[in-house]
Amino acid sequence: MKIAVYPGSFDPVTLGHMDIIRRASGMFDRLIVAVVANKNKKVTFSLEERAEFLRRAVEAEGLTNVTVDFYDGLVANYLRTVGATTLVRGLRAMSDFENEFQMALANRQINADADTAFLVTSVEYMYLSSSLVREIGSYGGNIRDFVPECVAADIAAKLKP
Ligand code: COA
Repeated sequence: MKIAVYPGSFDPVTLGHMDIIRRASGMFDRLIVAVVANKNKKVTFSLEERAEFLRRAVEAEGLTNVTVDFYDGLVANYLRTVGATTLVRGLRAMSDFENEFQMALANRQINADADTAFLVTSVEYMYLSSSLVREIGSYGGNIRDFVPECVAADIAAKLKP
């Protein structure tokens, strides 16, 4: 069974993330979306909240081979604990590439079995990021075009001024 892990901060999940999840779910037997603690980032939503939004969005899409988990530690080690050998990451622009390239090499150095598969974003989501959603929501703006419909109200409620 080919298991892949899609790690990220998901603070919060956006339609861009869902695009990657949907497409990756068709490429692997099982996809685990892992909400990972990132010590270098100040986050708005707790790990549990972020995972819960993702769970609801995945269920709404009917993606039966996708599960959601959260983890505080090295992603390369998490792969071992779930028996996965592939990391999935999305690329939105060339500017994403340098950091992703470095992470992919570091992850393989830590775990020789960890290969990274990059999916290029669908063009309509190239500009999208979680911080954009957080900023618009923090001014009371409408975030419904950017996040899954089933979690939009809860995300907006937490972000609103
Ligand atoms: N659509 C929309 N937005 C996307 C996107 C897509 N397809 N892909 C990425 N993004 C956005 C995210 O929303 C996020 O936006 P923000 O910075 O405005 O919040 C940004 O791109 C970064 O994405 P993310 O996937 O969350 O990466 P990250 O850099 O925050 O975290 C981890 C990357 C969590 C995978 C990495 O830090 C990690 O592995 N941490 C665990 C510790 C570890 O193993 N460290 C060693 C790594 S070598």
